Amino acid sequence: MTNADFEKLVDTSDEWITSRTGIKERRIADDDTATSDMAVQACQRALDMAGCAKEEIDLLILGTVTPDYRLPSTACVVQEKMGLPNAAAFDVVAACTGFINGLSIANSFIKAGIHKKILAVGVERLSSFTNYEDRNTCVLFGDAAGAAVVSAEEGDSGIVSTFLKSDGRMREFLWSKVGGTLHPHTPDYTYDGTDKIMMTGSDVFKVAVREMANASRHVLDQAGIDASDVTLVIPHQANIRIIEALAKRLKVGMDKVFLNIHKFGNTSSASVPLALDEANREGKFKEGDYVLMVAFGGGLIWGSALVKW
Ligand code: UT7
Repeated sequence: MTNADFEKLVDTSDEWITSRTGIKERRIADDDTATSDMAVQACQRALDMAGCAKEEIDLLILGTVTPDYRLPSTACVVQEKMGLPNAAAFDVVAACTGFINGLSIANSFIKAGIHKKILAVGVERLSSFTNYEDRNTCVLFGDAAGAAVVSAEEGDSGIVSTFLKSDGRMREFLWSKVGGTLHPHTPDYTYDGTDKIMMTGSDVFKVAVREMANASRHVLDQAGIDASDVTLVIPHQANIRIIEALAKRLKVGMDKVFLNIHKFGNTSSASVPLALDEANREGKFKEGDYVLMVAFGGGLIWGSALVKW
């Protein structure tokens, strides 16, 4: 969907969306494509790139807030659709940091010697949970999936450090109110958008800038390196202004920051792996380079991962 498509739906303009968010287009899944279907495509491409057989995967960690079902996990659906005979599978509900949480868990399992080859996926079908009458939110979101194979290898490249943090006091800044056990869908529920994504954007904005910068510094300090040592920063693609403010705080030029928000909008947990994959296929970094991933989302929740490629 382009900004012009939204001009027909709500009181908005290409000028407002572009200048306030940096978004020009987003991808919307068709009616026959479930969250799990997008995840399968991303996982398959990750396996192909890694030269990894399905039998080798012993864990699938899937970050999503837009699951196929309430029960079972989307990870189990993907395991069946892919045919991963030797994998444990579970979902991580961590909104836009879902992939970073998955990477962090994968890193810990591998370093503890419990698992050896893990698929970490971030996938969202946000169009299912978007209120297309609310101009504050509907112009922002898109559907996508991204995946990575994380494996136990010799050598000094890999995940160097990770950081995760949440503050549930701010959960109502970005949430879906109705549909859970606290506010269930009742027979007399009449649609008012409260079962879709709701956000007070300006509140989220301020915390996002501050905490993405803090999370970035945390993993850099843990590794004993400076932001200037990083070849590429891959931030969650929520808003170009948040990303520019983050770059300023980290004192890195925008030429070191990967952007694809104009094409995909905010794809929550898929955002970072989608950007990582594009940057990798475009050759934006090489072996031995430091890549910094950082994300922020509903919870509120934030996290980062520093990788030596
Ligand atoms: O991914 C998870 C984390 N999420 C984020 O990080 C998102 C963080 N927040 C943001 O990206 C920004 O806050 C938004 C893009 C959501 C909104 O930008 P903003 O500069 O914070 O705008 P605002 O919410 O303060 O609204 C400013 C004005 C309001 O009008 P009034 O009250 O000043 O008359 C809104 O009603 O802009 C209006 N507005 C719009 N106008 C045209 C809000 N959405 C739209 C729209 N088109 N789509």
